[in-house]
Formats: sequence, C-alpha cells, structure tokens
Amino acid sequence: MNKSLHRLAIGLLPGVAVLLSLAATAEPGDITFVRQAAGMDDVPPAVFPHSVHRMAYKCQACHDTPFKMKAGENLVTMDEIQEGQWCGACHDGKTAFISNLSTCARCHKE
Ligand code: HEC
Ligand code: HEC
Ligand code: HEC
Repeated sequence: MNKSLHRLAIGLLPGVAVLLSLAATAEPGDITFVRQAAGMDDVPPAVFPHSVHRMAYKCQACHDTPFKMKAGENLVTMDEIQEGQWCGACHDGKTAFISNLSTCARCHKE
C-alpha cells in the first residue's frame, strides 16, 4: 500500500467501526420515551416505533445524530420538535405527519 492509500484506510477506520457496531446492534422494538420536561403529566410519554421507520430508513438516518442509541439519553421536548428538531426533522407535514391536535395520540399513547 502506498502512503496516501494507507492514510485513507486509517481515516476510514472509525467509520467502519461505527458501521460494524450498528450492524451488530439488534434493532429494538417500540421505545417509550423518558419524559424530560416538567408538567403536563396528563399527556402520556411518546412512544417511538422502530419497525415502521426501518421500512424507510437505515439506522444512520437517526443514530447517533440526532438520537443517541440509548433510551432516556435524548433530552427531547415538544417545543424543539415543533421547531423542526428531533422527530420534527421528518414529522413536518411533508416527509411524515405533522404534530397537531389530531395527531398527538399517534405519538403519545397510553
Ligand atoms: C411525531 C411525534 C409527536 C407528536 C405528533 C406529538 N408529540 Fe409531544 N412529544 C414527542 C416526544 C418524542 C416528546 C418527548 C418525550 C415525552 O416527553 O413524552 C414529546 C413531549 C411532549 C410533552 C412533554 C412536555 C414537553 O414540553 O416536552 C407534551 C406535554 C407533549 N409532547 C404534548 C403533545 C401534544 C399536545 C401534541 C399534539 C398537539 C403532541 N405532543 C404531538 C413526540 C410527539
Ligand atoms: C427514524 C429514526 C430511527 C431509526 C431509523 C433507528 N432508530 Fe434506534 N432509536 C430511535 C429513537 C427515537 C430511539 C429512542 C431514544 C430515546 O428513548 O431517547 C432509539 C433507540 C435505539 C436504541 C436504544 C434502545 C434502549 O432500550 O436503550 C437502540 C439500541 C437503537 N435505537 C438501535 C437502532 C438500530 C440498530 C437501528 C437500525 C436497525 C435503528 N435504531 C434505527 C430512532 C431511530
Ligand atoms: C428520519 C425521519 C423520521 C424521524 C426522525 C422520525 N420519524 Fe416517525 N415516521 C417517519 C415516516 C416517513 C413515517 C411514515 C409516514 C407517516 O406515517 O407519516 C413515520 C411514522 C411514524 C409513526 C406512525 C407509526 C404507525 O404505526 O403508523 C409514529 C408513531 C412516529 N413516526 C413517531 C415518531 C417519533 C416519536 C419520532 C421521534 C422520536 C419520529 N417518529 C422520528 C419519519 C421519521
């Protein structure tokens, strides 16, 4: 291997490691979020279904940016979703259904 190829290969190693670790991680099922914001306890916590999303996306569409691969470690709030972060990056009414009064219960399930 010449020098620049060698450097390239080393540069690729972290990416390969991430891909291998993603490939080795089994896809979990539905995940109930741990609530971060205080108040409004009458709204049940959001549930994220992996299966439906995996029909359209690879793990890398969400992990580790923006979502860390650990339940409870993402400090997600409804305000940020409404500003287009987290779920709101796709749930914007174009890529996927938007948050409004008729869709709350699709994510917030008892
Ligand atoms: C695309 C999914 C999605 C939709 C639709 C949605 N939410 Fe959320 N919401 C979340 C997630 C994820 C969180 C963070 C986890 C949690 O606290 O349940 C959250 C958090 C919240 C919280 C906790 C307090 C806060 O400010 O973060 C409340 C209250 C809330 N949502 C109310 C609503 C209401 C009311 C609607 C409908 C107008 C709605 N949500 C629609 C995903 C959604
Ligand atoms: C559309 C976005 C999205 C895709 C695609 C996705 N995930 Fe996730 N994943 C999430 C969210 C959201 C959570 C929950 C984060 C939380 O609770 O804070 C999560 C959580 C996880 C967790 C943590 C489970 C736990 O109990 O701690 C693992 C492991 C995980 N995902 C693996 C994967 C793998 C492997 C793939 C691909 C096969 C994948 N995910 C695809 C969004 C996604
Ligand atoms: C990378 C884009 C993307 C992200 C990020 C994303 N979603 Fe979705 N989601 C989709 C698409 C696309 C669909 C299918 C189309 C639709 O139902 O509008 C979907 C469907 C859903 C459904 C409907 C499942 C069903 O049974 O029909 C729920 C519930 C949902 N998402 C919750 C969430 C929550 C909660 C988050 C954040 C924690 C989230 N999604 C983040 C793209 C995304």
